[in-house]
Amino acid sequence: MYTQSFSVPDGDAPTAVKLVSGATDNATQALQDAFDARIDADGRIEPQDWMPDAYRKTLVRQISQHAHSEIVGMLPEGNWISRAPSLKRKAILMAKVQDEAGHGLYLYSAAETLGTSRDQMLDALHTGRAKYSSIFTYPTLTWADVGVIGWLVDGAAIMNQIPLCRCSYGPYARAMVRVCKEESFHQRQGYEALLVMMTGTQEQKDMVQDAVNRWWWKCLAMFGPPDADSPNSAQGMRWGIKRISNDDLRQKFVDATVPQAKVLGVTLPDPDLKWNEERQHHDYGAIDWDEFWATVNGNGPCNKERLNTRVKAWNEGAWVREAALAHARKQQDKQMKEAA
Ligand SMILES: [Fe+2]
Ligand SMILES: [Fe+2]
Repeated sequence: MYTQSFSVPDGDAPTAVKLVSGATDNATQALQDAFDARIDADGRIEPQDWMPDAYRKTLVRQISQHAHSEIVGMLPEGNWISRAPSLKRKAILMAKVQDEAGHGLYLYSAAETLGTSRDQMLDALHTGRAKYSSIFTYPTLTWADVGVIGWLVDGAAIMNQIPLCRCSYGPYARAMVRVCKEESFHQRQGYEALLVMMTGTQEQKDMVQDAVNRWWWKCLAMFGPPDADSPNSAQGMRWGIKRISNDDLRQKFVDATVPQAKVLGVTLPDPDLKWNEERQHHDYGAIDWDEFWATVNGNGPCNKERLNTRVKAWNEGAWVREAALAHARKQQDKQMKEAA
């Protein structure tokens, strides 16, 4: 799951994306023209194609941040696998958390086609230089949080990721098709778990409402800063990486979620949330952007815990990676001997 449509560099890549052609001579200009023509015709750019450096860098940053978000996103819910209230819920949650690992794998693979290595990307994550979605730095306090993450966080991820299925970079777009199908299951399992809780005791209903209160605003912030504060979005749109603006996606999410909240029987914690007949959309209150930037910049409540868990898992898994490589080498040697 992922949705953080903002364009800020990771700690080690202070490259501002400019509205540039990238062409420095006639030959490069011809390549640039061919690239522009393909983008204008809504065609796909593939790994072997020429592309401007800034396009490549933007994609590496976005896809790697997306991949990091998928695997860090396993952690808040992974905490609940051993405490799920029934075998059925445990099996569903295990499948969901495993899906997120798969999403990370597709995305690291897609980023590798742009010439970056998995080791480089993971090193940036483990040393705290890479960004990942701010939402995963919050704790999951009760079982209702698991349901609300499915309903709202994965729901927001779907809003953001469906337009990415039409992204101009082929490997990213194709990865998103499968990811979106799985996100849809994540959203529905969360909503269904909450529907069941809402038929339970008052304590269970209160638990759901409390989780909604804690996650609602954080989910709205996940769509990234307002369009007016996202100067690089225009370039992302021009390149066909970004198809819908942050504010438009956020509005779609609010409009889709309000009726779902009504069916569920919970209140969304915003006194300014109301239908605007003229705009034919819901109005909503102001988002706390200071809190958003604090979490993005590594000062969220669980930033340190999340990174420590990732680094520990990486170190403890070293023997598995070494064993797999040793096995692959043995197989290769065997094949070579047989072929000789
Ligand atoms: Fe998900
Ligand atoms: Fe995911």
